Amino acid sequence: MSTQIVRPARTLQGSLTLPGDKSISHRYGMLAGIAAGTTRLVNFSTGADPHSTLGCMEALGAIVEKGERGTVTVTGTGGVFTAPSAPLDCGNSGSTMRMLSGLIAPHAGTYTLIGDESLTPRPMERIRKPLSMMGAEMHLTEGHAPITIHGRPLKAIDFDTPIPSAQVKTAVLFAGFQADGTTTLSEAIRTRDHSEHALKAFGATLTRTGDRLAIPGGQRLTAIPELVVPGDLSSAAFFLCAALLFEDSNLVLDSLGMNPTRSALLDVIVALGGKIKVLNVEEHNGEMIGTIQVNRAPGGLKSVDITGALSAQLIDELPVIAAIAPYTTGGIRIRDAKELRIKESDRIALVAKNLKAMGAQFTEFEDGLDIPGNQTLHGATIDSGLDHRIAMAFSIAALRATSDTEIDGAEAAAVSFPEFFAQLETLCPR
Ligand code: S3P
Repeated sequence: MSTQIVRPARTLQGSLTLPGDKSISHRYGMLAGIAAGTTRLVNFSTGADPHSTLGCMEALGAIVEKGERGTVTVTGTGGVFTAPSAPLDCGNSGSTMRMLSGLIAPHAGTYTLIGDESLTPRPMERIRKPLSMMGAEMHLTEGHAPITIHGRPLKAIDFDTPIPSAQVKTAVLFAGFQADGTTTLSEAIRTRDHSEHALKAFGATLTRTGDRLAIPGGQRLTAIPELVVPGDLSSAAFFLCAALLFEDSNLVLDSLGMNPTRSALLDVIVALGGKIKVLNVEEHNGEMIGTIQVNRAPGGLKSVDITGALSAQLIDELPVIAAIAPYTTGGIRIRDAKELRIKESDRIALVAKNLKAMGAQFTEFEDGLDIPGNQTLHGATIDSGLDHRIAMAFSIAALRATSDTEIDGAEAAAVSFPEFFAQLETLCPR
């Protein structure tokens, strides 16, 4: 396990281009892998998780060539997968395991999906249920991985997602476009819509009426010559929150993904006292890509309450929002975020453990945390739990601590953002 020392900083200044979005890279990698023809993906994520997806697509018969600076060329299987003799290794990636299960369930053959120690115990019944309603034969191990799928033709269903999960929605859509009949799906809380845009980019028909999506079955996807992956807003979140910690900070992020179903963090930044200037925005295949400049408004950071649908929309950003909460004036209250307990780690428990190690006061709930403001934190040894977002979140809290902080298991950052510590160093002159 590697340790990273993070020293207190004076300011945060600079401009950056973030590596490609993890969620979008998974979807483009999977759909390019099943489409007919060759797709060139530009600015593909450098994180280990989307590369687990590419490894699985290769094992299923796609040809994947990795080029310079995040360029990946994928020649798809033209709608047919070959069942590999070895298990499909999803690594640390819940997105790979859940979304890929939907994509492969209609394909003849037996497929086994495995993951690492963190992924293995994570709940998979949430995808087995809708996929088995469609006729899939899918066996879990006590509700989790290893998963065995005996592929067979599927039929369309009408499904209402009981939990807000873009991965569950995607598993159903990815099975649905290959099923017999039109699958419909509604979500009580609207989650990230990258799959909807990606399916359309690869030529699929998909409609939305009110809050119900409809995807006809029997569709074949076609490669597109080039697809650009926007910069990852969830990775940017660490630097955006860090920019709030210093009065004279100035951060410019370009080619950043600004999909409205992902950008609730920008509203939180403004509510806390950040100033965001959008310098330009363009649309690429349904995804918004833009350049933003972030400063901190004069005065202390205010407070914010994150509950209900907002908690679901901010699910990946909550650890870093919690990590800066003690430095606000009014504190931050996070509730309705029980899903955080079943991510790569129990993120509520680990945030609590590490806030405590740094000397912060807070109250922990089953579904969130209340963290008062106006607190001074000291450096500490942080337990990342080998969870990438915990390692990075507490590196940001460390910037305003009164002494050095040691991040144990810092290498976990590479799951989504291998460049994190190097980029943080360039932004924070000391
Ligand atoms: C993701 C959806 C979210 C998120 C994960 C990526 C996706 O998970 O936490 O990091 O790409 O669809 P859930 O669908 O489990 O909420």
